[in-house]
Amino acid sequence: MAQTATAKMVFDDDDDREPFAAYVADSESQAAVKLFAERRGWSVGSIRRGSLPSALRLLGVAPPPRLMIVDVDGLPLEEVDQGLTELARLGSSVLALGSINDVSYFRRIIRTGARDYLVKPVDADTLGEVFVRFEQAGEDGQIGGRVVGLIGARGGVGVTTLAINTAWIMADKLSRRTALVDMDIYAGTIALSLDMEPTRGLREAFDDPERVDEVFLQNAMTKLGKSLHVLGTEEAMNDAVRMTDEKVLMLVDAMRTNFDMTVLDLPRHFVMREPALFSKLDDIVIVTELTLQGLRDSNRLLRLFASRSHDAKIHIVANNVAAKPDVAVAEFEAGMEAKLRCCFAADPKAMSQASFRGQPLAGADPKHKLVHSLYGLCKELAGVPEETKKGLALFGWGKAKRG
Ligand SMILES: Nc1ncnc2c1ncn2[C@@H]1O[C@H](COP(=O)(O)OP(=O)(O)OP(=O)(O)O)[C@@H](O)[C@H]1O
Ligand SMILES: [Mg+2]
Repeated sequence: MAQTATAKMVFDDDDDREPFAAYVADSESQAAVKLFAERRGWSVGSIRRGSLPSALRLLGVAPPPRLMIVDVDGLPLEEVDQGLTELARLGSSVLALGSINDVSYFRRIIRTGARDYLVKPVDADTLGEVFVRFEQAGEDGQIGGRVVGLIGARGGVGVTTLAINTAWIMADKLSRRTALVDMDIYAGTIALSLDMEPTRGLREAFDDPERVDEVFLQNAMTKLGKSLHVLGTEEAMNDAVRMTDEKVLMLVDAMRTNFDMTVLDLPRHFVMREPALFSKLDDIVIVTELTLQGLRDSNRLLRLFASRSHDAKIHIVANNVAAKPDVAVAEFEAGMEAKLRCCFAADPKAMSQASFRGQPLAGADPKHKLVHSLYGLCKELAGVPEETKKGLALFGWGKAKRG
């Protein structure tokens, strides 16, 4: 007890915590946890052979990580009760693994403060799904999807390309049930880029937003892979669709209720038409080119969003950046008085190879540099905690994989 009290005292600061550790007793679970951790870019050194007692032994030296997988297989119930209660008390979100398939056992585990219990065997997909809930829960434990909007400082800077790749990574790597919505109802290119039939879903959603529920979305959206759902429309130019502020807001709320993550590809005229929308977003990503025009318009968007969308976090990313851009990164940042979150190099060859395969770059070439750094941004947008160098050194856990 004295040991854990010290741990609490010394390691109260959340920054000292590692994002994740696992103590699993059998090879099969270990392999599943390893694949799951790799997908999130967490060091596999944080996976140890062991179970609850080994997790508790470490409390004297390090703070418990934010998220933990702990094997309780074969341990006496009292020991499980005490140990899991202690981990929860110290602020860890714990997923317990065991082999007892019994509702009263499950309830007892949940009463300790552990967040979930899974019966073995487990696989990486299931672990991913469980952790999405842990990661997305707010301070109050409330779960709600997150919504990110991507918008271009100028036309043709790569918003659609980045929106598609963001959504792909969210679904494929970070296990989010993801919606990708093309808000450009007339000229959007998401359906075209993904080689999909455009649907009338968005149009119907705007005609009658109250209809938008799970069943509507299932019918209106095109499913790509296990958890990516796409709403891509291509309405006739002469067909007037009434997109009032109110309807757009209702749609965003419906998306938040039905998906872990919603990625909106926003046409630039939305800035003029739907100001209230931006106050609903968790994150806004402004995509720009490194030119004088890009600098002027990024600045204008940045100031506008900063004054209007107090809750949204704003990220500015440069895309399609040439080896010698018109405006260098340092000059651009000085002109904007803000840092660029990412700087994606131009790689027309990789882009056209991916589109030839009818896939986003993240699917066609997952190891590409652009995908790797977009993955880092995606983890931030999704709320996946990052590893700290300090914590890794403390545990002697080797080098972290970074996004
Ligand atoms: N990093 C990159 N390197 C090379 N080509 C890129 C890169 N990013 C995007 N492109 C290409 O730029 C073109 C325009 O991209 P995209 O359609 O995503 O831009 P957009 O901002 O959505 O355009 P619009 O304003 O018309 O909606 C596409 O052909 C795409 O393949
Ligand atoms: Mg576009």
